[in-house]
Amino acid sequence: MRILPIDPAHPNATALDEAAALLRAGRLVAFPTETVYGLGANALDAAAVDRIYRAKGRPTYNPLIVHVADAALVHDVAAGWPRDAETLAARFWPGPLTIVVPKRSNVPDGVTAGLGTVALRVPSHPIAHALLVAAQLPVAAPSANKSTQVSPTTAAHVATSLGDAVDLILDGGPTSVGIESTVVDLSGSTPVLLRPGLISVPQLEAVVGPVAIAGPSSGTTGRPSPGMLDKHYAPQARVRLVTAPGVSDAIREAHDEGRRVGAIVIDGDATEADVRAVLPGDAAGYAARLYGTLYSLDDAGCDIIVIEQVPDAPEWLGVADRLRRAAY
Ligand code: TXA
Ligand code: MG
Repeated sequence: MRILPIDPAHPNATALDEAAALLRAGRLVAFPTETVYGLGANALDAAAVDRIYRAKGRPTYNPLIVHVADAALVHDVAAGWPRDAETLAARFWPGPLTIVVPKRSNVPDGVTAGLGTVALRVPSHPIAHALLVAAQLPVAAPSANKSTQVSPTTAAHVATSLGDAVDLILDGGPTSVGIESTVVDLSGSTPVLLRPGLISVPQLEAVVGPVAIAGPSSGTTGRPSPGMLDKHYAPQARVRLVTAPGVSDAIREAHDEGRRVGAIVIDGDATEADVRAVLPGDAAGYAARLYGTLYSLDDAGCDIIVIEQVPDAPEWLGVADRLRRAAY
């Protein structure tokens, strides 16, 4: 595995050409997007896509997201592009929104886990964009981590998680959004939120009207997204999610069991913890630092991480979802 530093403000053409050549040759390249680092392969090459699953140890029922350089290119892989897709793309692309639509038959089954739909995204990160332009390919890219681990927000996280399973890592520094894209399914009669992210339900609804939320609580409208039902996004340490007044007690209990305790809080002081992180009180600021904090608490040898529950508000839904999965 090689790590190639690359400046987001002036992506180096030689580095991009090397990465693009690897993608065209069916190899794996990790690259920064605005959300998390992706593990990229040529989306139209079934053997290259298989490599992604093997590198991540990912179950084959969990489909991948296909990245394209701009919205005009969706027709290379999508069989249909509904009006809601057009308006959402116009409003949120390039950016952290993934849109699920019917797929074209040239998309290998490995990309879509055999589904009749494909998930598409135009990333806004300048390195991701420049790489897609250089490769002239749709690039399938899940987060560049071993399956079930925390998604990487730095090149070092990618290297730690995947090691030699990846051929090249483009190191463009830390990502800015910090949690994975919002995923919305437009393949049915009404839009369905499959994965919450920083683009919130009210923001989507302002563009396309009512959006159903997938999952057990959404009754008959829910179409659960494959791969979203598993334990996911979990650090090595056990995670306990508690309301703010419960933080001190949870830390004391863990200490009584002889654990080394990390804590992530917004308002609580948690000074009793062995290692403590205070994250910002706004959802975007919190999300930007969450995964890096989980990685560093693992590095600090914490056995358990006590996390203060975040506010119950629409803009926090993506963060709350990741915390719930980490604590699963
Ligand atoms: O921010 C992101 O979306 C990052 C960066 C790298 O772009 N990628 C990412 O990929 O998070 P991944 O593989 O970790 O998440 C893909 C998820 C799947 O687990 C599934 O929930 C949903 O996207 N998905 C993909 N294709 C789908 C499809 N055809 N139908 C329903 N859900 C799909
Ligand atoms: Mg992932």
